[in-house]
Amino acid sequence: MHLLVSGGAGFVGSHLVDHLLTAGHQVTVLDNLSTGKAEFLHPKAHFAAGDIREAQVWRSVFNRSTIDAILHFAAQVSVRISVEHPIEDAAINVDGSITMLQAAVEAGVPRCLFASSGGAVYGEQEVLPTTEEAVTEPACPYGIHKLIVERYLSAYGETHGMRWQALRLGNVYGPRQDPYGEAGVVAIFAKAVLEQRRAVINGDGKQSRDFVYVEDVCRAALALLAHPLDGIYNVGTGRETSILDIHRMIGEAAGRAWVPQHGPAKEGEQRHSSVSPARLRHLTGWEPRVSLPEGIRATLAYFQSQAKR
Ligand SMILES: NC(=O)c1ccc[n+]([C@@H]2O[C@H](COP(=O)([O-])OP(=O)(O)OC[C@H]3O[C@@H](n4cnc5c(N)ncnc54)[C@H](O)[C@@H]3O)[C@@H](O)[C@H]2O)c1
Repeated sequence: MHLLVSGGAGFVGSHLVDHLLTAGHQVTVLDNLSTGKAEFLHPKAHFAAGDIREAQVWRSVFNRSTIDAILHFAAQVSVRISVEHPIEDAAINVDGSITMLQAAVEAGVPRCLFASSGGAVYGEQEVLPTTEEAVTEPACPYGIHKLIVERYLSAYGETHGMRWQALRLGNVYGPRQDPYGEAGVVAIFAKAVLEQRRAVINGDGKQSRDFVYVEDVCRAALALLAHPLDGIYNVGTGRETSILDIHRMIGEAAGRAWVPQHGPAKEGEQRHSSVSPARLRHLTGWEPRVSLPEGIRATLAYFQSQAKR
């Protein structure tokens, strides 16, 4: 297949491009390199530089070649920025996605896989791990906007016959994640431990997330590509891990006994999150393969190799 990966120069998108090429697909990347990096671009992928908010950018890709599916991973990904600048977030995450859908329909592109967010779309839930049937309670513009795009996908499916799948991702971690971002706690702590700094934990550290290794996320996207049943799919482990445990595991992997520094709790931060991958498993047989200790070791090794360059 010829696949278009928006956000293919970013953390998750660039790994996805590597996996798609390895699986024998032809890949075009659309990215404006706002947070993505040119060095993450696979040399065998065709690169189209541009902004997802511009219809002409999509049209020129679709005029150049026949695209079998779009994997829409480009986004403004910071929850904090979405709270401070909701209109900007909507412009990229909602308008940019509608622009993509409209151009895709005009060009006859038949399928779209969308990177949604399990944590942000579900919000705080009573029952964990959360299944796709749960009532969504997004508490920030980022989550609201991801949900809006899911609804658009469903509507475009109904109206235009577009095939679609939304992947509600857990907390993805692994090599190439930005260690200076607000989230990405594994990357942030990994960088700190390697630089012999103490890591700051917001609040008591008992808040939990569903950490899923980036390679497992890529395998999930490939599995869904092979099983074109429209709908929403959680991509996570179904397990909660506290930030304190992540801190401890990173210390162990680095061979360092380190004590965290506790900062003030982040106001409005979600307390617990994990997503059940049962639906994805049932459809495709997908299981997360990389354990947290393994994934943390691989992430540390990556940042270590970066430091030596
Ligand atoms: N990392 C996670 O834990 C996680 C969790 C849930 C969902 N997601 C979703 O997965 C996707 C990838 O996230 P990531 O962590 O790799 O983030 P990232 O910031 O590394 O990747 C986003 C990519 O989109 C590009 N981009 C941003 N705005 C653009 C625009 N206007 N036009 C063109 N390109 C643009 C960036 O340059 C970057 O390459 C996003 O949709 C994100 O919302 C990520």
